[in-house]
Amino acid sequence: MKKTIIITGGAGFIGSHVVREFVLKYPGYHIVNLDALTYAGNLANLKDIENLTNYTFVKVDITDAEKVLSTFREYQPDGVIHLAAESHVDRSIADPLAFVMTNVIGTVNLLNAAKIIWEGNFEGKRFHHVSTDEVYGTLGETGLFTEETSYDPHSPYSASKASSDHFVRAYHDTYDFPVVLTNCSNNYGPNHFPEKLIPLCIHNILNNRPLPIYGDGKFTRDWLFVIDHAKAIDLVFHDGKLGESYNVGGFNEWQNIDLVNELCKQVDEKLKRPQGTAAKLITFVKDRPGHDFRYAIDASKINKELGYQPSVTFEEGLSKTIDWYLSNQDWLDQVASGEYQNYYQKQYQG
Ligand code: NAD
Ligand code: TYD
Repeated sequence: MKKTIIITGGAGFIGSHVVREFVLKYPGYHIVNLDALTYAGNLANLKDIENLTNYTFVKVDITDAEKVLSTFREYQPDGVIHLAAESHVDRSIADPLAFVMTNVIGTVNLLNAAKIIWEGNFEGKRFHHVSTDEVYGTLGETGLFTEETSYDPHSPYSASKASSDHFVRAYHDTYDFPVVLTNCSNNYGPNHFPEKLIPLCIHNILNNRPLPIYGDGKFTRDWLFVIDHAKAIDLVFHDGKLGESYNVGGFNEWQNIDLVNELCKQVDEKLKRPQGTAAKLITFVKDRPGHDFRYAIDASKINKELGYQPSVTFEEGLSKTIDWYLSNQDWLDQVASGEYQNYYQKQYQG
């Protein structure tokens, strides 16, 4: 069946993988990538599919309610997959309001536009809100986040994402609006902007710069390969129960210091140089304020109800990721020029 789906944030890290997955897998869908192209958005991420006839890019800022509505009127989407967001915790500490504008107001603008054009007839319609495990706050040494865990965000980023999740659920409960949500753990993979831990370390190793580890490095994250997140979104968008949330993760916890050591080991191997070369760059730096100690996802609901399973092991995923960065150093150099240099200076040397 011919369908039009608006994917927001499709020029970003995860969004570009979701756009590619949908454009290639569903030739009968018209995929409209709606993105403002902020510092994190990059159309070069989609070079390989940009000329396909079932793909369209539109430059729209989701904080602009009128423009969002006119775009929805023009394309008449049957579905929305919403990934556009300000996504970096450290930037949210420096500028919380930008996160409220895009993540909260922007989400409500999208909900309103879809509600207006669907005119109360939600048959065959779906709004998929892509969220994060960070809304649940932090875990101690044990335990996992389930879909029933209470929200307890600590950073301006996670507070803004939690707020957007609440609005999405409120539209379901108030207007019977057809929503599904996913809350995913930390992603890694190709096209990841080098402000985040893994690409930042790869970029710094390649430039012989220090690898900044916050605090004692014992903070723990649960890592999922980005293409496996895209596959989970595909499943939930099509088969998830309306009004429900699904946690997405790979049962793959790493302390930051162990992860960076593993990364250093693999990069040295791939560059055929003595082990320990990259690890010498590891530098412990001042901790992030309000730093959540541990995130870990219980992904059993999506597994039991929708048969979801990640397709790659962490070793394979990390190896593919490093290979991608080693063969795409132009991409890395391009995104790490300009604005990134000011950000880096303020964040790490300021
Ligand atoms: P990203 O920062 O790489 O990309 C965000 C994209 O949104 C960019 O293309 C940017 O141009 C666009 N955007 C930002 N503000 C916009 C605005 N006002 N209007 C229109 N477009 C705008 O982010 P990401 O890491 O790909 O994350 C995508 C989504 O997934 C986010 O909602 C994030 O909260 C969620 N998420 C991310 C992770 C992760 O590990 N990165 C994990 C779980 C959930
Ligand atoms: P990040 O990639 O920013 O993702 P998030 O904060 O959303 O989990 O950070 C992952 C972990 O790595 C987190 O515990 C913070 C830590 N970290 C560092 O130790 N150094 C860094 O330079 C960065 C960016 C993150």
